[in-house]
Amino acid sequence: MNITVLYGTESGNAETVADDIIEEFDGQFEVTGLDMGDAAAVDLDPASIYLVVCSTHGEGGLPASAVPFAEMLDEEKPDLSGIRYAMFGLGDSSYEIYSRGSERIDERLAALGAVRVGEYGRHDAGDGSLPNEPALAWSRETLPVLAQLSEVAS
Ligand SMILES: Cc1cc2nc3c(=O)[nH]c(=O)nc-3n(C[C@H](O)[C@H](O)[C@H](O)COP(=O)(O)O)c2cc1C
Repeated sequence: MNITVLYGTESGNAETVADDIIEEFDGQFEVTGLDMGDAAAVDLDPASIYLVVCSTHGEGGLPASAVPFAEMLDEEKPDLSGIRYAMFGLGDSSYEIYSRGSERIDERLAALGAVRVGEYGRHDAGDGSLPNEPALAWSRETLPVLAQLSEVAS
């Protein structure tokens, strides 16, 4: 089973989360990381399952690396039916608009036919904590759900 950890980041936290998730599952699965800033429509493939990690910047906006990805989805409107993904949002509730960045990606993926599976994970940096441990706990819970669906579908 192929797993892609697709991350959108501005200051690097989502990338370190992706690295930790890759390390966690490496050896068990074929697992690769993909920065949203480098992702093309052809990289969204129903043969892979997606763990999506995305932060929020600006005023509830997308982080820098997710901006071209969102633009690509809006312009090319790829058919994402058959794609299953789980979502983990990074944010900070001391900002007025909390954790909307990941939701902006979630809404686009769903509108193009992809299906979100499992709990919508979140990390709130408002208490000064880092997202890595909660994101790892989320991935351990979520991956078996995605993997089971993947086996049923194949
Ligand atoms: C300049 C700046 C603006 C931010 N704006 C928001 C925001 O509007 N809403 C929110 O929930 N979090 C906001 N955050 C918090 C980030 O989403 C959080 O720190 C996250 O862990 C950053 O992940 P990244 O390093 O992968 O971009 C902001 C952080 C910074 C530094």
